[in-house]
Amino acid sequence: MADSKALPPPTPFLKTSRTDAWWIPSLLTFLGLGFFLVYGTWAILVGKNYTYGPYISPLYGLELWGDSPHALFGARPGFWPAWLPFTPGIFIAWAPAGFRFTCYYYRGAYYKAFWADPVACTVGEPRSSYLGENWFPLVMQNVHRYFLYFALALMLVLAYDAVESTQFEDGFGLGVGSLLTMMNVVLIGGYTFGCHALRHLLGGRADSLPVGFKGACYDGVSACNRNHMKWAWASLFGVLFVDMYVRSCAMGFIPDLRIF
Ligand code: FES
Repeated sequence: MADSKALPPPTPFLKTSRTDAWWIPSLLTFLGLGFFLVYGTWAILVGKNYTYGPYISPLYGLELWGDSPHALFGARPGFWPAWLPFTPGIFIAWAPAGFRFTCYYYRGAYYKAFWADPVACTVGEPRSSYLGENWFPLVMQNVHRYFLYFALALMLVLAYDAVESTQFEDGFGLGVGSLLTMMNVVLIGGYTFGCHALRHLLGGRADSLPVGFKGACYDGVSACNRNHMKWAWASLFGVLFVDMYVRSCAMGFIPDLRIF
């Protein structure tokens, strides 16, 4: 008599005994990330209307070269080919984009929503093999821990932009754009400081739970990490919203409301 049983055949694609609306989270992820990808790519490539007064769109900070007063090194750099349309966004956007693309949460979400691997728990998949993230190209997702350093540096840039957003031509002030820029720092901070890779780093990169100071750091990151998904979405749409606000002011669609 055999001492093991053969595995059941794979469940056909999309077959499941689940009765809940398991497909809704993936549909929302597909729509949300799809919208961000399309809008964000356009906003970065268009290369104009990304500043208004003391405000700068978070999609463009840190502006290294550009035509706005925020540019660190001045106007379009000499090495840029004359035939290629210039946009300051591409010098910096790769860093936050790479950080989000390789984020543990987003990976789980877009693997399901964009290429159905897996579709959802206990739902039939379109393929029977699973290579996981130990193989090329998905093994490259490990660069997340390095994108973390860029993300931490960008936190400083965002904080600087928030301070700058209060420096109007007539002196210190506060506008709706200033408040939105500050809100953006809080949302991106909640997302970045809840990063799994940051927790591992601050916890001493050990395979056991840290104690003492490292343990306190570990617990601090865990506090943000508990709602990492919520921070991820809130900060993503926060960036979009601030960009839309600054862009709408710059294009004359809406006035910037000054509080004082
Ligand atoms: S795991 Fe999501 S930002 Fe690092």
